[in-house]
Amino acid sequence: MPEAAVAAAAPTVAGALRDATAVLAAAGCDTPRLDAELLLAHASGVGRERLVLDARAALDPSALARFDALVVRRAAREPVAYIIGRKAFRWIMLHVDRRALIPRPETELLVEVGLTLPFGASVVDVGTGSGAVALALADERPDLTVVGTDMDPGALTVACENGMRLGSKVEFVRADLLDGVDRRFDAVLANLPYVPDGAELPPEVARYEPISALFGGSDGLDVIRRVIAGLPDVPVLGLEVGAGQAPAVAAMLAGSVEVVRDLAGHERVVVARR
Ligand SMILES: C[S@@+](CC[C@H](N)C(=O)[O-])C[C@H]1O[C@@H](n2cnc3c(N)ncnc32)[C@H](O)[C@@H]1O
Repeated sequence: MPEAAVAAAAPTVAGALRDATAVLAAAGCDTPRLDAELLLAHASGVGRERLVLDARAALDPSALARFDALVVRRAAREPVAYIIGRKAFRWIMLHVDRRALIPRPETELLVEVGLTLPFGASVVDVGTGSGAVALALADERPDLTVVGTDMDPGALTVACENGMRLGSKVEFVRADLLDGVDRRFDAVLANLPYVPDGAELPPEVARYEPISALFGGSDGLDVIRRVIAGLPDVPVLGLEVGAGQAPAVAAMLAGSVEVVRDLAGHERVVVARR
């Protein structure tokens, strides 16, 4: 084929993005254009802003091949964070893969509860997953002593790896809630499984995220009930909950109880102080 014809066939950055956006929209992805940009930036090893500057440039064939493969994965509804292997959470970047839940923006509220603790306090993030809450809190409040626990060895490995990558001094411990962790903490923060068994979830969650991170019994509150029962006198307890669960969880707690809403207006975190 003449060289000119090959050059004419090579898609531009803008064209590749347009085609991929159509494919992802047809596959039912919520944010197809954004996803396409994130995947193309990852495949090309550049920042997203570069895609705008290079919109009319021809896409390098090897980057195009990598991009096409990533689009196939996203069209099968694999979450972008697992495909590119990272997720920003507050001021830190976490490595994520299928061993651990992808941290959600609303969980940043739990970190904000930790920010209210007095200088030098000790805090444990129960069900730490990727280590998100523990590592972000330690990053923003180096004076705190922070521990993260999880019963899932895969998730705990992801948390430890994130801790090492970030040079964090958070200690990660494998435990069923706080069983066998013979220490007292000034605060307990937890985003534990709270999805009611049998609830319908988007394919991104149902097919790819760890089941052990999601389901909490018939009303979703089995694990939360257990953690509350095991902590009769912790000074500060912050729990992330699902839609409509805050009143039931608040009723299980003693002391002064506050419910914090997320940016979407949902009652998301229940905090008990005594
Ligand atoms: C909803 S995910 C949250 C992960 C992380 N805290 C976050 O917000 O991204 C719940 C986590 O709790 C862990 N988990 C579930 N049951 C547990 C238990 N009984 N003891 C300790 N961890 C548990 C799961 O393995 C999972 O990592």
